[in-house]
Amino acid sequence: MMENIDNLQEKIKEKYKSLNLDVEAMYKGLLHAKPITYWDYIEVESLLSLQKPRTDFPDEMVFIMYHQVTELLLKMMTHEMKQVCDNDSLTADFFINKLGRMNRYIQMLANSFDVMRLGMDPNQYNEFRFTLTPASGFQCASFRFAEIYSTDLENLADSRLKNNLADNYDIPYLFENIYWQAAGKDYKTGKKSYLLTQFEAKYLKQFIELAEEYKTKNLWQKYISLPENEKNKPELIQAMKELDIEFNIKWPLVHLRAAEQYLDNGSKVIEATGGSEWKKYLHPMYQKRVFFPGLWSKEEMDNWAKEYQ
Ligand code: HEM
Repeated sequence: MMENIDNLQEKIKEKYKSLNLDVEAMYKGLLHAKPITYWDYIEVESLLSLQKPRTDFPDEMVFIMYHQVTELLLKMMTHEMKQVCDNDSLTADFFINKLGRMNRYIQMLANSFDVMRLGMDPNQYNEFRFTLTPASGFQCASFRFAEIYSTDLENLADSRLKNNLADNYDIPYLFENIYWQAAGKDYKTGKKSYLLTQFEAKYLKQFIELAEEYKTKNLWQKYISLPENEKNKPELIQAMKELDIEFNIKWPLVHLRAAEQYLDNGSKVIEATGGSEWKKYLHPMYQKRVFFPGLWSKEEMDNWAKEYQ
């Protein structure tokens, strides 16, 4: 029901008085201010001016815009994650509600990846991609932010090193051994590819700060700290497992299938713009990233992603 206009005016006056602002000037401002429009509020013109292809191939537009759509949906995901992590009086119901949103966003991404796999002409892609070298989706930090909000860094360690991490490790050490190093680090010499060096120069400091801040309050830690009766709610466990499946199996698999469509024509595997050994690296069975390990049996972890192939 609409509030009485006199009441509203009283509240407005009180608000500005308490801020020590001139109430009359504020009213005059309201009198002259133009009503908001859709296009200003949504920033339509700015948003639609952000697509700048580097070539004349029409399908480069699809490539750019689908990456941008992904960035927006990942931002929507981390927006929900932060609300759970920063909540000091978290309940299972609030957690379930937010996980529902995260799951819908990541499902949108996994279910729409055919925009890439089928929506771009491979011949056009295999021409315009040279203008993108040496950039790669690998350098998308939003996925990594979502991972840091979701779990302990130990759970993101390279699957080959997980059981042999040094004692008393700190956060920079864990980043040195994180799964994504395998896309660009020569483990014999320690030398890193240009792709990886650039990525770390731009984001590592930010990643370390975020991991420090969320070390005790990422989604996994928030779950662990819930009281027993809340923690055991089947809908909560179900929603958490769903996030693990969508984020760490389904999306990586649809992405890998798209990469194969464009970079592996059956007779020849083309080198990716970022230069990784991508066929192996991108497979979720190889990476074995699991946000919520305590919710899965040893057998399920050992066979991670096998049944979704
Ligand atoms: C035809 C489309 C695509 C192809 C062929 C492709 C190919 C690849 C390849 C080969 C890699 C391995 C790193 C490298 O050497 O470059 C990679 C990594 C990655 N790409 Fe894509 N990609 C495509 C679309 C996308 C889209 C739309 C996104 C959304 C942002 C994306 C995000 C990523 C991410 C996050 C990684 C790192 C994955 C990880 O570290 O596990 N890619 N991509």
